Amino acid sequence: MKDSDKIGIKAAVDNDADELTYLYRKLYKGDEDQEFFNSKAIPSYFNSGSKVFVAKDGNKAVGFIWVIYYEHIKNKGIGIIEELYIDNNYRRKGIGKKLILKAVGYLKKKQVIAIIVTTGPHMENAKKFYKAMGFKISREWFYYPLS
Ligand SMILES: CC(C)(COP(=O)(O)OP(=O)(O)OC[C@H]1O[C@@H](n2cnc3c(N)ncnc32)[C@H](O)[C@@H]1OP(=O)(O)O)[C@@H](O)C(=O)NCCC(=O)NCCS
Repeated sequence: MKDSDKIGIKAAVDNDADELTYLYRKLYKGDEDQEFFNSKAIPSYFNSGSKVFVAKDGNKAVGFIWVIYYEHIKNKGIGIIEELYIDNNYRRKGIGKKLILKAVGYLKKKQVIAIIVTTGPHMENAKKFYKAMGFKISREWFYYPLS
């Protein structure tokens, strides 16, 4: 039996925050003068790779995009468009394009090498949209289904 076999692995929950904060501050030893150092490491806050932009007509939200910045070990990450939605009555008005450009700007600053998005076979409008936005189709995409 290896030592690591004795280690139980679980998803962190907010009750782990004190211990995580303790470890986090050990990790960032030397950065005590930085503002972030005093942050608490609360697992439900660990969504920093996600960014949501919303399109509003006055006070009314009419569309949104949710993107994820995925950091890579070689420094340059990738961006993922997780969700993009424009309310029915607001389509074909350039709002999707505005949101894409906002998201691209955000991800460009992160120096990602590419932005990926998946569409279903019947999402013809979305496919036309992404094509019009300059996205290229990848013909080789493997996935490992877990459900
Ligand atoms: C796909 C979607 C986000 C497009 O948003 P939108 O605000 O209507 O798109 P835009 O007005 O910015 O369109 C920009 C360009 O994309 C192309 N395009 C967008 N919708 C299109 C459609 N239904 N048919 C053909 N081309 C389309 C056009 O070239 C368009 O430029 P044009 O209007 O000057 O011809 C929107 O239809 C939507 O929310 N669909 C349902 C959810 C969805 O499929 N989301 C994507 C999931 S991955």
